[in-house]
Amino acid sequence: MTETLSAPAPLGSPPAHEVLLDVRDMKTHFKVLDGIVPAVDGVSFSLGRGQTLGIVGESGSGKSVTALTIMRLLDIPPAVIGAESEVWFDGREILHMPLDSMRRIRGKDMAMIFQEPLTSLNPVLSIGEQIGEQVRLHLKVSRHEARDRSIESLRSVGIPSPEARIKQFPHEMSGGMRQRVMIAMALSCEPKLLIADEPTTALDVTIQAQILELLKVIQQRTGSALLLITHDLGVVAEMVDHVVVMYAGQVVEQGTANEVMLEPKAPYTMGLLESIPTAEKRGGRLSVIKGVVPSPFHLPPACRFEPRCPYAWDLCHEVAPELYPVVGSGSGRRARCHLHQAAGESRRVAALELHADAMRVGRGLKEDPA
Ligand SMILES: Nc1ncnc2c1ncn2[C@@H]1O[C@H](COP(=O)(O)OP(=O)(O)OP(=O)(O)O)[C@@H](O)[C@H]1O
Ligand code: SF4
Ligand SMILES: [Mg+2]
Repeated sequence: MTETLSAPAPLGSPPAHEVLLDVRDMKTHFKVLDGIVPAVDGVSFSLGRGQTLGIVGESGSGKSVTALTIMRLLDIPPAVIGAESEVWFDGREILHMPLDSMRRIRGKDMAMIFQEPLTSLNPVLSIGEQIGEQVRLHLKVSRHEARDRSIESLRSVGIPSPEARIKQFPHEMSGGMRQRVMIAMALSCEPKLLIADEPTTALDVTIQAQILELLKVIQQRTGSALLLITHDLGVVAEMVDHVVVMYAGQVVEQGTANEVMLEPKAPYTMGLLESIPTAEKRGGRLSVIKGVVPSPFHLPPACRFEPRCPYAWDLCHEVAPELYPVVGSGSGRRARCHLHQAAGESRRVAALELHADAMRVGRGLKEDPA
């Protein structure tokens, strides 16, 4: 942890109006018995109004902590938020605003869908009571109007007979139906931003596809922005315009979904893509990134991906890479890797060729030399 976590700092200025969410140098660390976990360690990204952004990365990379920090849902302590970190939402800085003000934004302008709806829904309240309560809290409408609105939002997420369903309790519904209820609840106040953290991981494959399709349709219909967290790059390709790839608490690559999926620039993203089990790859060699995500208590000294990186050289062990602009791309395209500095140029060419080969082999387009 650095001193930036304790010294208060004056806030910067708001982003342009078209930027809905602007995360700046977010640091969320946890003080635990064994030491300090730098779960989110200097993360920055932004999301435009009505746009979609995916955050991807392996387990433990800091995706959920990023979302929970934005929503101000972490207990402080043990969480410690960087004093210089800022999160601007709809023209206001929300990370340092009083919690009362944040509660008025949360659930109304900014809503979140979690992985497991059963743990997020209240087991002793009917579905109608839960959605109605949320609506009345934020929209100051009558009980009757809140009920109508609850029925309408259940109908909008494809729940049949919503008039009857509002009387049911969460345990009386299937996992897929519960997730639809969560989405209905999140959407009941027409938020400007919807954060979905692995919204389909707990569901079976056919229901997963239905829920993702539903999220996409609703996002397009309502014009809300979507921040979708997933470990699944296939989902990203289907669902979002822009992507942030996280590894060990840091952003390691960012760009449009097409740029990141088709022309990854950070070796970590290349490895993730090489290990996607696609139908095309069946029968071909499936490469998996070797090694494991480092312990937060024993991070590598410079590049955090170095122990697992097939392209690492001395510099990677000595100097921590920044999030460098990718040569020949727009300003939003960045990669945290020395391959994108002049010193890494020849290695970069070789790495990109090896990645292209690995993807061709994976698709069965070339003989596997191994
Ligand atoms: N309350 C907490 N106290 C201590 N450490 C925590 C806490 N919550 C998260 N962490 C740690 O922070 C790191 C990031 O966790 P996070 O839950 O954000 O990962 P994730 O990318 O969402 O992973 P997954 O894909 O498994 O959901 C991990 O090392 C995790 O153990
Ligand atoms: S900086 Fe070095 S070790 Fe890190 S990802 Fe790039 S090549 Fe690999
Ligand atoms: Mg998570």
